[in-house]
Amino acid sequence: MAIDQQDIDQVEERIDDHVNEPYHRGPCSGCTHAHEGENPLCGDVVRLEIELDDRSTLRQVWFSGRGCRISQAAASMLAEHVEAKTVDEVKRFSATDMLRLFGARLTPNRQKCCLLPWRVLQAAIYSPSSRATAGGNGRPKPVPAGLPGNDPRRSAGFRPLDPNALRRDFAFFSRPGESGRPLVYLDNAATTQRPRQVIEAIVDAYENHSANIHRGVHRLAEEATGLYEAARRTVCSFLGASSPQEIVFTGGATAAINLVARSWGDAHVAAGDEILVTEMEHHSNLVPWHQLAERTGARVRYVQLADDGRLELDGLDRLLGPRTRLVAVTAASNVLGTINPIGQIVSRAHEAGAVVLVDGAQSVPHQKTDVAAWDCDFLAFSGHKMLGPTGIGVLYGKRELLDAMPPFLGGGGMIDRVEVDRYWPAGLGDEADPRPARFEAGTPPIVQAIGLAAAVEYLNRVGFEAMVRHERELTERAFDVLGAIPGLRILGPPPEARGGIVAFTLADRRGRPLHGHDVAERLDRHGIAVRASHHCAQPLHRRFGVDASIRASFYFYNTLEEIDLLGEALQTLLGATRADPGGGSLR
Ligand SMILES: Cc1ncc(COP(=O)(O)O)c(C=O)c1O
Repeated sequence: MAIDQQDIDQVEERIDDHVNEPYHRGPCSGCTHAHEGENPLCGDVVRLEIELDDRSTLRQVWFSGRGCRISQAAASMLAEHVEAKTVDEVKRFSATDMLRLFGARLTPNRQKCCLLPWRVLQAAIYSPSSRATAGGNGRPKPVPAGLPGNDPRRSAGFRPLDPNALRRDFAFFSRPGESGRPLVYLDNAATTQRPRQVIEAIVDAYENHSANIHRGVHRLAEEATGLYEAARRTVCSFLGASSPQEIVFTGGATAAINLVARSWGDAHVAAGDEILVTEMEHHSNLVPWHQLAERTGARVRYVQLADDGRLELDGLDRLLGPRTRLVAVTAASNVLGTINPIGQIVSRAHEAGAVVLVDGAQSVPHQKTDVAAWDCDFLAFSGHKMLGPTGIGVLYGKRELLDAMPPFLGGGGMIDRVEVDRYWPAGLGDEADPRPARFEAGTPPIVQAIGLAAAVEYLNRVGFEAMVRHERELTERAFDVLGAIPGLRILGPPPEARGGIVAFTLADRRGRPLHGHDVAERLDRHGIAVRASHHCAQPLHRRFGVDASIRASFYFYNTLEEIDLLGEALQTLLGATRADPGGGSLR
């Protein structure tokens, strides 16, 4: 079909107009969401800042950046076009729609320039901006229910949280227990409850964006891929990692640690080498190293604990040596609550030439994580212990380490090319498509990753400083209340050296130990959920001369009243003990 020169002139004129008098170039005063992207082919950069209102409408769209006339004119046209549209309409606005809006005939590479702002916009609607409340329109960004977003009493940088208000985000707390009263959920170290915001993100992903990712070219596949990769970027900035290439989605913390043991371990550990763990590790951070030792002839050695449940750092120094290949250590104990000095451990291990894997399953949900500050080599954690869905976890790994690691699982998605007699594994992607595909074989946990990103956003809004202070208060109250119960022994360090986990043993009035399951079952009758077992930490319990313990573990939505209820219930059940021959028991 002949192209009319007049049409071409009109299109060119329109592009020039947008270049010379761009629509909304500059910062957005009420910015709630923002994202920046680059075209790896030419280095063009576009940043979009948008203000989303309570009805998910784009009230304002502003752009900035640098680059060719196509990318900059396209950004201007897009800003003008999507202003006042809803997020759903933006999600439906496809790459083809963008090219149509631009109007000019473009070669495939120039199409990339035109599509840069479109890609940035698709990511921006999922990327809350940290400048959100600094905007000039004075309207607060929507915050979870319990946060005093505009509280004038708020000191710079610190916002106390109100657990009772935050609980309104959780349907769980409206569910009455057996007694008719709400359940007292103190088993958060096992798994947490989920707020409505996370559940809605999961439902939305299944209802509206359900497709497999990184395969199809249809719109739904693009949407699902966009959401999954946006989740990776969210986790990347949450951890302070330097690139999404360092974020591998796994089935959980256990799967992440096993990945390192199989892939990095098999390639770097040999007979006679040593792997250092600590006496407080969860079995998930012990058994994979025992298995590696079995396969290779290496030796697993233990850093011991002091009687107060803290690590013997001198012991670490004594054990570190030329044969140490890896130190695998938890950032926070799932039994003692002890918070370990990871930065110090990493620097001592690095001096000895060892690599460090941090088990963050009990720390990432509760305290600000900064992998760059720790300088750890690997970090593993699970989504379900931090408001996210089950079946999702993360392995963070330094790029240079992941790059040199062979794949662990083989299958679709993790290859570059397959021939009848061999295959070439995928790498860690590039700037245009930054993902460690080599370690994500098969269909990954797509919706779970999207749910995890929603959980991360929720936690960021709650704020880790407020969370740490609140959990400290709960722990101190637990020490007061439980410490007053005769026959109750708390394992581990004082509140200032631990997170919100308090494990204890209990004896009857004659000093005979009560079985944890009996105690937990009685507490359940009072509507209180705690856990009683060895908590997948048998070496730790042996270190303290017991088989098991009763564990109460807290999260930001727990209240001081709930801790008091735990104390009262324990007092009541102790009042009902009788001393049978062979051990205490409960009536
Ligand atoms: C310290 C620690 N590490 C690892 C894990 C394993 O997590 P997941 O079962 O989610 O893989 C847990 C779970 O309780 C844990 O507490």
